[in-house]
Amino acid sequence: MAENMAKTLRKTDASQTAAPNPADAAIVPFDSGQIPAAAKILSKAFNLSARRVTRDLKALTDSFNQATFMATVDGRLVGTVRCHRSDKNPDYFSVSLLAVDPAHRKKGIGHMLMRHAEDFLKKEWMKGAQHYVSLEDSTKHNNPKSRFYEGMGYTQWGDRKGADGDPIFYKWLNAGNS
Ligand SMILES: CC(C)(COP(=O)(O)OP(=O)(O)OC[C@H]1O[C@@H](n2cnc3c(N)ncnc32)[C@H](O)[C@@H]1OP(=O)(O)O)[C@@H](O)C(=O)NCCC(=O)NCCS
Repeated sequence: MAENMAKTLRKTDASQTAAPNPADAAIVPFDSGQIPAAAKILSKAFNLSARRVTRDLKALTDSFNQATFMATVDGRLVGTVRCHRSDKNPDYFSVSLLAVDPAHRKKGIGHMLMRHAEDFLKKEWMKGAQHYVSLEDSTKHNNPKSRFYEGMGYTQWGDRKGADGDPIFYKWLNAGNS
């Protein structure tokens, strides 16, 4: 019996070691030298032309009211996320451009990027005050059963829809919920 137990433990240890480790990924500020690599991932993720994504990335990367971050694995860009604050309403914050290279999905990198964006918003822009952040949930395009944002504490905002017709979700930050 002791031998069986030891075998089971060895098996468990081996599977834990083999599991994908999001710690292999680093989240760093977006570098404009990475626009071509980001455009490739984003155009596939959102079914947009690479040219349009490249133009949008170039136009917005230096803007004071947005902050873009990228996930890298071994120095290669594998994902992006962008935080925005409104010019008109300084208390209005949103997140967009969350995408991960298909070869690196389901390893926790999407969650890492979202947590990084939330931490940035809480500390740098909200300065510890309570505000909500909103986003348009397009994860249900590929997978109608996706509960990606619900799992991170986001709530659907009635029947509000974003520019792409997807539901808007929101979450209060700095409210002791994250
Ligand atoms: C949505 C998206 C960014 C998620 O990226 P991701 O890196 O796969 O995200 P995660 O790995 O953190 O989480 C995805 C799922 O994998 C699971 N997962 C996380 N780590 C895991 C691991 N080590 N092993 C197995 N599964 C894991 C998560 O629990 C999650 O499951 P859920 O969807 O049922 O909640 C990615 O699918 C994507 O780019 N989609 C296309 C663009 C898009 O829809 N973007 C969202 C815009 S609103």
